[in-house]
Amino acid sequence: MQRDKNLIPLSHQHQHALALCVRIDRAQPFSEIQLPTWQEEVWQSFEHEIKVHFSAEESVLFPAAGQFRELKPLIDDLLAEHLSLRRSFSEAEGRRMSSKNLVAFARELSAHIRKEERQLFESMQKRMTPEQLALLGCQLEEALKQATPVCRLTRTASAEWDTAGRKTTPKTKP
Ligand SMILES: [Fe+2]
Ligand SMILES: [Fe+2]
Repeated sequence: MQRDKNLIPLSHQHQHALALCVRIDRAQPFSEIQLPTWQEEVWQSFEHEIKVHFSAEESVLFPAAGQFRELKPLIDDLLAEHLSLRRSFSEAEGRRMSSKNLVAFARELSAHIRKEERQLFESMQKRMTPEQLALLGCQLEEALKQATPVCRLTRTASAEWDTAGRKTTPKTKP
């Protein structure tokens, strides 16, 4: 099923997180020297995007899905996964992850994302009316706003590099 446009902002963020998971999986085995760098990247992903993504899902998406009783067990699973993943992000922040933990984390995060995309989003699209989906889209946009300035800044900067072939805006940081 094609992704409904109101869920696309969440799907885009899923792609970013999946790309990180794939890179972690391909980069193993890790040396002791590499581990802190990977953990820094995991933590930065959380701080810049995933933290707000999780709270938008918890405050807007899951309650909207919860109006369908049959989706409640799935939402409970997803909430428990958020808890476990937050623990891993916190381990990454404290640089406490072993190589094994890092790989297990990447697999857990990608399984979580696939469950949301293949089970939750599909089920919601089948059950919700276009009006309900449009309202959900507005609420998600509002909830995701906190993450937007960083993303927009990054996208704008890359777009200007890509299209002009040179930097066209004042550089804020070296
Ligand atoms: Fe999630
Ligand atoms: Fe998600």
